[in-house]
Amino acid sequence: MTTRILGIESSCDETAAAVVADGREILSSVVASQIEVHRKYGGVVPELASREHLRQIVPVVRVALAQAGMKLAEVDAIGVTQGPGLVGALLVGITYGKTLAQALGKPLAPVNHLEGHVHAVFLEAHKAGRKPKLPAVCLIVSGGHTVLYEVKTDDSNAQDSNALLHYRKLGQTRDDAAGEAYDKVAKLLGLGYPGGPILDRLAAVPNGAPAPAKFGPTKMKGNALDFSFSGLKTAVLYHIREHAEYSGEIRTREEALRRGERKFEQLLPLCSPQTLGLVREFQNAVVRDLVERTMTAAEELSAESVLVSGGVAANSRLRATFEERAKSAGFEVFFPSRALSTDNAAMIAAAAYSRLRAGILADLSLNADPSLALA
Ligand code: KG4
Ligand code: ZN
Repeated sequence: MTTRILGIESSCDETAAAVVADGREILSSVVASQIEVHRKYGGVVPELASREHLRQIVPVVRVALAQAGMKLAEVDAIGVTQGPGLVGALLVGITYGKTLAQALGKPLAPVNHLEGHVHAVFLEAHKAGRKPKLPAVCLIVSGGHTVLYEVKTDDSNAQDSNALLHYRKLGQTRDDAAGEAYDKVAKLLGLGYPGGPILDRLAAVPNGAPAPAKFGPTKMKGNALDFSFSGLKTAVLYHIREHAEYSGEIRTREEALRRGERKFEQLLPLCSPQTLGLVREFQNAVVRDLVERTMTAAEELSAESVLVSGGVAANSRLRATFEERAKSAGFEVFFPSRALSTDNAAMIAAAAYSRLRAGILADLSLNADPSLALA
């Protein structure tokens, strides 16, 4: 008997629904992004996010069921993101999840969004016939989070990747998330929102210009596995302010953005070699910090594998650097595909399966928890 779980995700600016069988086979996954709604504000506006979720939730669930070739009544359980996230946004998914569970008489599993990101890695590995060995170190790196966990399972469940996983927090950002730093630096440079994808591509453009500034490793007092990205963002800001030659091209790009010209091919010709060098140096600094701390944690814990998830896990330089470092250090490294890296509901349905099997269910009193901790 397969267990088909409908996952619902609405913690931030993506309304998503998916059906996953036995926690590992994705039967459908639908994501309605709100990027267009929030773009002109340069970030997610909570009230607008809630309103969009309300508009999208019913059609998104309907399409997810249709793509899985299922009727609502055939769903075995519902998994919904309880937190962390924006309270109004979370409430839309939770209320709809509770209503469906009640109307269908099916169990409802509450899911921590961060645990969803961990399961995204297992979903992807499963597609490739691979299985991350535990204990692992998992870096979750997105626009809202930069956090490092140890991921374990009980010894008796060591071979069962659907068993309930146990987490220990090893470090986290003390200020901005890495994705937030990408978004803020892109805004400073007149490169639009979100910043990650465009900076990723600009940083990869072959360009002989030397870096116009040097950003060294960030030293942390106290927990050496903590992260900090606001200093780097400020360093970029000061560098731009101190060098008047950036201002003309920034204005030109902002005008292009206002005309709707936000594609890589449209913005690249508007970037000087100096700007490309700056973007490359910024990205190198972010990637170096993320990789160094994660690899230090993996070595300290003698982890079997390294898992990387969240929107920034889509970054090509981050992926390449992790692959390279992990190979030489003898770890296996696992990433979700780009589609599973960013927020989606397949990862929520997958995480819900292990909770369902462990009997961790919610009733109608389930409430949103904007700062729900994983560990
Ligand atoms: O996981 P996600 O969709 O949403 C949450 O923040 O939870 O992540 C979005 C973040 C944004 O900050 C975006 O700029 C960043 O992920 N991002 C990237 C890339 N693609 C998305 N950052 C760096 N390189 C990328 N290729
Ligand atoms: Zn997320």
